[in-house]
Amino acid sequence: MKILLLGSGGREHALALAMAPHLDSLVAVPGNPGIAQIENVQCVDGDILNGAAMVQVAREHEIDLVVIGPEAPLVAGVSDDLRAADFAVFGPSGEAARLEGSKAFAKHIMALAEVPTAMAHICTTREQVDDALQMFPSPYVVKDDGLAAGKGVVVTEDLDEARNHAYSCLDAGSSVLIEEYLDGPEISLLCISDGKTVIPLEPAQDFKRLKDDDEGPNTGGMGAYSPLPWAPKDLTDETVERVAYPVIRQLERMGTPFIGILYIGLALTSRGIRVIEFNVRFGDPETQSVVPRLRTPLPDVLFAAATGKLEHLPPLEWDPGAVVTVVLASEGYPGKLKVGVPVECGAEDVQAGTMMKDGQVVSCGGRVVCVRGFGDTVAQARQDAYARIRPFEGAQYRSDIAAGV
Ligand code: AMP
Ligand code: GLY
Repeated sequence: MKILLLGSGGREHALALAMAPHLDSLVAVPGNPGIAQIENVQCVDGDILNGAAMVQVAREHEIDLVVIGPEAPLVAGVSDDLRAADFAVFGPSGEAARLEGSKAFAKHIMALAEVPTAMAHICTTREQVDDALQMFPSPYVVKDDGLAAGKGVVVTEDLDEARNHAYSCLDAGSSVLIEEYLDGPEISLLCISDGKTVIPLEPAQDFKRLKDDDEGPNTGGMGAYSPLPWAPKDLTDETVERVAYPVIRQLERMGTPFIGILYIGLALTSRGIRVIEFNVRFGDPETQSVVPRLRTPLPDVLFAAATGKLEHLPPLEWDPGAVVTVVLASEGYPGKLKVGVPVECGAEDVQAGTMMKDGQVVSCGGRVVCVRGFGDTVAQARQDAYARIRPFEGAQYRSDIAAGV
């Protein structure tokens, strides 16, 4: 099989590492220096938001399956162009990708499908914001409606900060969600769907805040681990039944079947599970911790989903061991970044925001390197990960990823 993989981050590097050994070849657009080092892999320049250009690349390389990594090309409808050109694609249509592209749309689908989630008000004026902020007690949860790379959400006890964030989203032309605060631990459950059947991956936990003890601003994710030895045994089944299937069936009824990863961000509240958010692609950095544990060849799973054959796929097989991922981010992240800093990457590391400059790997993004540790238990994997960290100049990372698990 020949796969075309779109994206250049840590998620794509982890996917490429997992898929390449099972493939005749893998073409990555644009890829990154870590992806370029993998045997069987060729990185090709190109604009992954340009559907016509991606069709051209897929034709040129006689691709059997296209795997779309990030949300932006999905929301832009690149999978629609590829499907119209008869390629098998793992990744939802532009319409179905609105589950991530618009938090208001996600709430609408959840209401129709009776999926448990936080109560929310969708605001388009300052007056509505002021009213909504009075309806829910502190901590306030304020969300930009559109895509914001994990940075559009503010959770704060400070009313002024909540109001200011909401106003600045409105000023930028977005609508704003103000919603009920959900307590309890968060879990990421990534479910694969072919539009009808749902197959869950093993759950992971992500660390969204920049600093230890969940302090500091929200980020795209500063680390992750899998499995979750503490998670309730029936959590996955319950989430598939109460969340994944209702959403997949709702989208099917609406004529926009969902083919790809339905990423369910869940809070385990004292009142039961509640959906915090949906994403429509592999989580980053969850993927770095989940995918290496999958023993079933990943390309087979993604191809079955892309071609509507998940129902016939044998049950997934998992390695019982643990993987802990610690993200090293640039100085200034998630604000103004200092980039172009030389970065040392070990062979086990996943590159997330790197480029080649004068023959050297340098930083070029917010999250730069994901260091992964492996072990029989989460504690062992954690120790392994932290022992191998080689921070670059100005690197920020958390010291409490998977601590106490
Ligand atoms: P989102 O982009 O919706 O996933 O939000 C990013 C992060 O903000 C989540 O992972 C949570 O940690 C936090 N968050 C979002 N919504 C809520 C909520 N309703 N209650 C508590 N925390 C939330
Ligand atoms: N780690 C959260 C995300 O992928 O959006």
